[in-house]
Amino acid sequence: MKILAIETSCDETGISIIDAKGSLSSGVSFTVLADELASQAQMHSEYGGVYPSLAKREHIKALPILLEQALKNANVQSDALDIKPDAIAVTHGPGLEPALWTGITFAQELAKKWSVPLIPVNHMEGHIYSAIMQNINNTKNYKLRDINYPAIALLISGGHTMLELIKTPFDYEYLGGTVDDAVGEAFDKVARMLGLGYPGGPIISKLAQEARTSDETYTNESAALIKLLAKPLPRPMLHSHDLNFSFSGLKTAVLYKIKEIKKILDTDELPASVQRQLAREFEDACADVLSAKTLDAIESHEANTLIIGGGVSANSYINKSITDKLSDSISHNTEILTPAKGLTGDNALMIAIAGYLRAQRGEYAKDINGIQAHGTLQLAVKANS
Ligand code: KG4
Ligand code: ZN
Repeated sequence: MKILAIETSCDETGISIIDAKGSLSSGVSFTVLADELASQAQMHSEYGGVYPSLAKREHIKALPILLEQALKNANVQSDALDIKPDAIAVTHGPGLEPALWTGITFAQELAKKWSVPLIPVNHMEGHIYSAIMQNINNTKNYKLRDINYPAIALLISGGHTMLELIKTPFDYEYLGGTVDDAVGEAFDKVARMLGLGYPGGPIISKLAQEARTSDETYTNESAALIKLLAKPLPRPMLHSHDLNFSFSGLKTAVLYKIKEIKKILDTDELPASVQRQLAREFEDACADVLSAKTLDAIESHEANTLIIGGGVSANSYINKSITDKLSDSISHNTEILTPAKGLTGDNALMIAIAGYLRAQRGEYAKDINGIQAHGTLQLAVKANS
């Protein structure tokens, strides 16, 4: 079955075409016929985050260009009806609504033009499947790895931070999530405070790693600065006895620390060594809370698999903290699955495979015009709510 997938939930425009076969019980394999991605990250860098109306404008510009490229790559002519895709999958949430609408409207027009059904896809389900896509011998062929259920999914990105229980395929239970900022958003905001670029995650992570390996000392700095740098950042909600997170207070704590440091040093520019030190402390704090809560979720649900997905799953320090904590625990047999490089962030391939699996369940939109953008779309509603 050929699926054309469209992703526009945030600042990446993606169009993929896959040819998939099989089922989750017998094994799914697929060939990537086209996989196009246009990132707007550069354009949003001056805002230190994604600016919704700019994202919308850029998606509208990029979609027809990527479609043409994708069809060319897939060797399909858009007006050659015999080789059109069998269905179109489109992200309908969660995400930025103005951005989501661009993909939905584009998908609706194509579905009408080609007379093919539409499949609305949850972006977070896409991130889950990103972690189980396995490339076969560097070809365009992939298969989906088996998940040993129950599984826990830790979904960490610029817009989301959540723990989901997956009891069996498609059966989700929301266990907890951030009560304010997403962890990726906090990385982006802290990077901006430190005078670094956007997206902040990869930059902070690189500086933090440099601080860990360089073992910097501050002998030339004032005693007040050394004392301030030694004071640990908070680990918000670490002992809240639930599976929720908070990153807003941590971000504010970094801001106050930066202000005090600037006062002590009587400068507006942070020295590179201080930037590295703060990046390290911030990443340590994030890793501590994410790993502790993930371990709690795994233990309380006796999960056999942990799936980590979303842009922040590219962070090897956070992944290692989770792996280390898990290997020291009673749940050390839990298998950890993370996306391959290039599949951690937003992409349309994950929407294509999520769409294929939903199509197998007959979950096509009843009315093509009825698909709506849902900025806060959930995988499942909270138990008892
Ligand atoms: O999943 P994604 O591409 O888009 C959303 O759906 O939000 O995630 C983007 C986020 C950004 O906040 C970015 O700073 C963060 O992922 N990110 C990282 C790393 N690479 C990307 N955060 C921490 N460490 C990284 N290595
Ligand atoms: Zn995402």
